[in-house]
Amino acid sequence: TEIDIDAEDLDLGGYPHYMAKEIQEQPESVERIIRGRLDDRFGVARLDGLNLTPRELRGFSRVKILGCGSAYYVGQIGATMIEELARIPADAEAASEFRYRNPIIEADTLYIAVSQSGETIDTAFAVEEIKRKGGRVVGLVNVVGSTIARACDGGVYLHAGPEIAVASTKALTNMAVGFALIALSLGRVRDLSNADGQRIIDAIRALPGQIKSILDFEPEIAEHAKTVAAAKSLFFVGRVRGYPVAREGAQKFKEISYRHAEAYQTSELKHGPLALIDESLPTVAVVPSDELTGRNLAAVQQIKARGGAVLAVTHAGVDFGELDVPRIVVPKTEPELDPILLTIPLQLLAYHAALTLGYDIDKPRNLAKSVTVE
Ligand code: G6P
Repeated sequence: TEIDIDAEDLDLGGYPHYMAKEIQEQPESVERIIRGRLDDRFGVARLDGLNLTPRELRGFSRVKILGCGSAYYVGQIGATMIEELARIPADAEAASEFRYRNPIIEADTLYIAVSQSGETIDTAFAVEEIKRKGGRVVGLVNVVGSTIARACDGGVYLHAGPEIAVASTKALTNMAVGFALIALSLGRVRDLSNADGQRIIDAIRALPGQIKSILDFEPEIAEHAKTVAAAKSLFFVGRVRGYPVAREGAQKFKEISYRHAEAYQTSELKHGPLALIDESLPTVAVVPSDELTGRNLAAVQQIKARGGAVLAVTHAGVDFGELDVPRIVVPKTEPELDPILLTIPLQLLAYHAALTLGYDIDKPRNLAKSVTVE
């Protein structure tokens, strides 16, 4: 892909890898996507680039998000945010599947294509299919002027800055924040109150500082990574808001540490995969402090009872009782936005596991930064 990168962007700035640099850049890159887009008077996001009037925004009765790889998993985070804040049915699908299944395009569905590069061919073809059938599609794209950005009817640029490492980090975080902004827009033309809009805006504003505080825990996360890197295979589990977080965590782990990492809904463990749990198969469990904490803790207990080690990504105040569970504690935001922060330590976990194992972090084998050919 041809993208404009100047010499400064290619400078590692003292970091050993682009991935490390891009992880550290997240507080500033989140500042950039929110700059000028939060309106306190009405508790709304200003997203003029969407090219949608309030009446059009109101007219959608469904949202369909399309992306590939990590962008698809963040799309799933976005779908949950939109359902929670706007109460419109929303789901994410791999664009690579969508384009081949003669999808039904509905006039009252808002399609959102999500892509760092804006050049992923499967996502670009999904956009063309939607347009050909008369659907309305907007982009959540990083690279300005890219194929997907140009093809869409409007969109929200991520402003994450150039991303060089194959394993995406700062662009993904900005995608998740972008979805929060879109969810706010869709919510505020419906039943989300001004006060609730303001609650979300205040939480979005606090994200850069909270991300910084997670990054301060890098040395501890690196220690956890050494432990998990020793396993040949591991599970990542999460429930509802936490499930796409687990999927993305497992994806990162596979991509750069070449370990078998499988994501499951915590709720589904008992319907099959629990059979695999023993001393050799550790689990990374996403256990936020929310209405599902008790159920997540019960699942952790079941894993521990079968001899499985658990590393929890959790919030302060979650009470693990007698359970011997090492924890990575992430700052709490509003429940709808928790996935944005829960994902960050999993980037560091994958990074440090790959570092321990001695792999090529910025250019993992068999993978390309953007897949632009069939
Ligand atoms: C490739 C990369 C993934 C990325 C996906 C989508 O497969 O290896 O890391 O998530 O493409 O890329 P995009 O540029 O569309 O976000």
